[in-house]
Amino acid sequence: MTTVEYRTTFNAAHSDFAKIAPRVWNVAGHALVFALELRAGEVVLDVCAGAGSSALAAARAVGPAGRVHAIDLADDLLEEGRLVASEWALQNIDFVAADATKWEPPSTVPAAGYDVLASSYGVFFLPHMDSSFARLTRLLRPGGRIGVTVWREHALDDFTHPFFEALGKVAPQAVPGKPAVAEGAAETARDAADRINTADKLSAWLTSLGTTDVRVTELSNYLPATDEFAWEFVLGSGLRAPLAELDEDTVRAVREQFIELLTDRGVHTVDAGTIVGTAVVDRRTT
Ligand SMILES: C[S@@+](CC[C@H](N)C(=O)[O-])C[C@H]1O[C@@H](n2cnc3c(N)ncnc32)[C@H](O)[C@@H]1O
Repeated sequence: MTTVEYRTTFNAAHSDFAKIAPRVWNVAGHALVFALELRAGEVVLDVCAGAGSSALAAARAVGPAGRVHAIDLADDLLEEGRLVASEWALQNIDFVAADATKWEPPSTVPAAGYDVLASSYGVFFLPHMDSSFARLTRLLRPGGRIGVTVWREHALDDFTHPFFEALGKVAPQAVPGKPAVAEGAAETARDAADRINTADKLSAWLTSLGTTDVRVTELSNYLPATDEFAWEFVLGSGLRAPLAELDEDTVRAVREQFIELLTDRGVHTVDAGTIVGTAVVDRRTT
């Protein structure tokens, strides 16, 4: 998908995205912030921040003397994050609609750079993941930390396979083929995600960015696949993209077929297993 398609898809997802956040997005976001060992007063850049799963947790961790810049393409998701920030009276977080690959720190960021760069379930969306993320690491001060989360290999398979099978039965024309490589991108988001979806692969990738003190852990998160939650997960994630072109009745039929397949196969849980990786950026090696 192109950046415009990501923006459209995640904007359309915003209310369901927020609904599943406590069970899905925030679990990883909090784990990431914990792994990054944020301290009071630090300045954090969170890219592909969505509704702020990690950015809001980061804002609480760095406190009033710190600051968080939460960057995303999807304005409607950012607005969900602003609402939470306002409910919590957080004044140290800015939700900004921007393309992470073009982000330049405003003059309020210390000249040496950000202390921390975070991205939960985001890096693989960046076209040219390696060079895009390497560029973002250069916005950090020497000794700054980076942290990412990614889906663990095969984690969502029992859930996503029946979804695409249901789509294939009801609306074969909507099944994405081998996803096209977005214009200007070197690979698809799926291929990029596959390169970093195990502890060993993520660890090697972080090391290849010229980082030190690489730490990778697995976060286990099994969610009850109730009919209601299963469909919310589809609508509140990138899975919803192929539904955009379908009319209401067809979408309803896809949903029914999907739920039937989950039931027939005895899929009672969604494996939302995730890999969390952090590292330290040594400016001399990047
Ligand atoms: C799966 S969501 C994750 C959001 C959030 N980090 C979370 O875990 O809840 C991925 C996000 O990446 C954003 N995104 C994709 N490409 C982007 C880009 N080039 N710049 C900024 N955001 C981007 C999408 O709009 C979407 O909100």
